[in-house]
Amino acid sequence: MVVTPDRPQWGLMIRFEHVTKRYADGTTAVDDLSFEVAEGELVTLVGPSGCGKTTTMKMVNRLIEPSEGRILLDGDDISTVDPVQLRRRIGYVIQQVGLFPHKTVLDNTATVPHLLGVKRAKARERAAELLDLVGLDPSVHGDRYPDQLSGGQRQRVGVARALAADPPVLLMDEPFGAVDPVVREHLQNEFLRLQSQVRKTVLFVTHDIEEAVRLGDRIAVYGQGRIEQFDAPAAVLGAPATPYVADFVGADRGLKRLSVTPIEPGDLEQPPVVHLDDPVERAAAALTAEGARWAVVLDGADDLHGWISAEQVRGAGGTVREHARRMEAWLPVGASLKQAFSTMLQHDAGWIAVIDEQSAGRFLGVLTPARLHEALRRSIDADAQELPRTAVAVESVSSP
Ligand SMILES: Nc1ncnc2c1ncn2[C@@H]1O[C@H](COP(=O)(O)OP(=O)(O)OP(=O)(O)O)[C@@H](O)[C@H]1O
Ligand SMILES: [Mg+2]
Repeated sequence: MVVTPDRPQWGLMIRFEHVTKRYADGTTAVDDLSFEVAEGELVTLVGPSGCGKTTTMKMVNRLIEPSEGRILLDGDDISTVDPVQLRRRIGYVIQQVGLFPHKTVLDNTATVPHLLGVKRAKARERAAELLDLVGLDPSVHGDRYPDQLSGGQRQRVGVARALAADPPVLLMDEPFGAVDPVVREHLQNEFLRLQSQVRKTVLFVTHDIEEAVRLGDRIAVYGQGRIEQFDAPAAVLGAPATPYVADFVGADRGLKRLSVTPIEPGDLEQPPVVHLDDPVERAAAALTAEGARWAVVLDGADDLHGWISAEQVRGAGGTVREHARRMEAWLPVGASLKQAFSTMLQHDAGWIAVIDEQSAGRFLGVLTPARLHEALRRSIDADAQELPRTAVAVESVSSP
């Protein structure tokens, strides 16, 4: 998120001082952690499963007590603050949403203010406003139960509920983890818009470096129980502090590139090609000559029809038409490598045909996993020096 320069000098909201958490069984979940989060800042915690992200969050609202060290909230040592009082200042969106299944959406959202003593009618009024704020129509969704919502809608209710008591601090534990990538991106955008209005101090946990980069003013990259780098997104991506961070960021950068790298004609392999009206013997000869296991079948206009395997033609008679199978796994040239990859998975196909939509579906060649990998490598290498676009617009919050 771009930090606007006209923002007032930020206070310090959350401060970890040498915090360690050892569970009873001896697991050190968090190891000597020190960091600070400024007021109004959104910090994303990113790292692999089991690295201590949830443990970090739960220590902030005292669902878990540190074994060593202390945590300050707005200057107060939280171990001296009554947990109930403390949690009024902290909204919490838990991993897996955790809505009450027997309460309506509106009542779920109104839960915390109601518990805090706000009259029921008033709490429901506020809940309706919040649902509206997270993009749910209270008159449509308010009276439904959680199992009558989509995953993305449930996650919005989780966010609305966390905002209900208007706490200055929000802890969000993989709030958008359970939805597909498209809905996720939508929720991220809405959340950024929301945050630009409400300006909470946010700790936001995610597995996904892309989400971390997109949302965070700063990112804390976790290794096992430790923060390996705590920096602005551009710095994490452009100047990883350790080989571990480079690896963590790098793996996902490759995946990110899949969705922005188009299939090019040069990426394609040229298998044997036969036509529908060819005699099968000719197809068999072509396959044998090239040592191929299958050939692509085109129609009279050289458009893609399907494919035929060496097994099908062995000892068979007639024309290719009688034996060919229709092609289901195909894409136009220019489609992304990510689409190619997911098409391969969807059809359980070892290769997909690529056609030219501009010239009436002319067959261009096939993409194989090996070629897909080569195309990806080329794309990453070409880009190695260039920071991802998302990172460039991000400005660091001045380090406290
Ligand atoms: N109550 C507990 N007792 C013992 N070990 C625990 C307990 N809770 C968590 N752990 C361990 O502490 C470590 C950190 O757990 P934590 O839940 O903080 O990870 P996480 O980063 O949130 O992982 P995920 O991304 O899977 O949610 C893990 O090894 C976990 O098994
Ligand atoms: Mg967790």
